Amino acid sequence: MQIESITTLQTALNWRYAVRRFSDSTVSEAKLTQILKETRLSPSAFGLQPYKLLVISDEAIKNRLVDASYGQDKIAKNSHLIVFVADMSSTTKMVEKYALRYSLHNDLMGKKLTAMKQTMLEAVARMTTEEQFQWASQQAYIALGTLLVCAASLHIDACPVGGINASEYDKILELDKQNLRTVIACPIGYRHPLDHAAYANKVRKPLEELVVRVG
Ligand SMILES: Cc1cc2nc3c(=O)[nH]c(=O)nc-3n(C[C@H](O)[C@H](O)[C@H](O)COP(=O)(O)O)c2cc1C
Repeated sequence: MQIESITTLQTALNWRYAVRRFSDSTVSEAKLTQILKETRLSPSAFGLQPYKLLVISDEAIKNRLVDASYGQDKIAKNSHLIVFVADMSSTTKMVEKYALRYSLHNDLMGKKLTAMKQTMLEAVARMTTEEQFQWASQQAYIALGTLLVCAASLHIDACPVGGINASEYDKILELDKQNLRTVIACPIGYRHPLDHAAYANKVRKPLEELVVRVG
């Protein structure tokens, strides 16, 4: 069973590529929900998940984002556009909320819960705005990685798109007033039969160049 799942994951990772042209097919609501539910299981620092995933299917909104993506039309032509945004709200409130949830799911109360909160607050409550954005972005990128793998495991295509003007996205999506900031976009859907990127072979560093064994 375990070996089968590993083979399936390897197959999915080899099957996937960054799709540059999507077909007109739509990802079903059930599959979309499955991808989102699995992405929700991504690890994050202290478990705080300081980000959100915006799921955009409205054509007009997607079209408005193309210019803010240096003309990349895959931002509009896809099944759903997912935008990972950093949660820029109070980190103290994030910790409070997390601790409450933690105590509901685990046997931790009183002084031990207070000590856990304290440790977390010391680590995250004194960040500058820019540090918080960097920190939240790192967690969002981990979630992006999870989403790419989950989508591939369901034979759903995706393309991470970092070539965007994030502050333009913030304006178009009116994120400022929601204490959110754009990190990265990721259209999902199904590869078009004429997508030129499908014919490119994977280019990766050899393992010896990528991995340094220390000791
Ligand atoms: C953080 C990140 C940003 C990326 N930004 C873009 C982008 O703006 N436009 C694009 O076409 N591809 C983008 N890509 C896709 C990469 O070019 C692609 O993943 C890489 O060349 C490896 O190829 P593969 O994913 O097809 O195996 C991005 C990938 C990542 C991980």
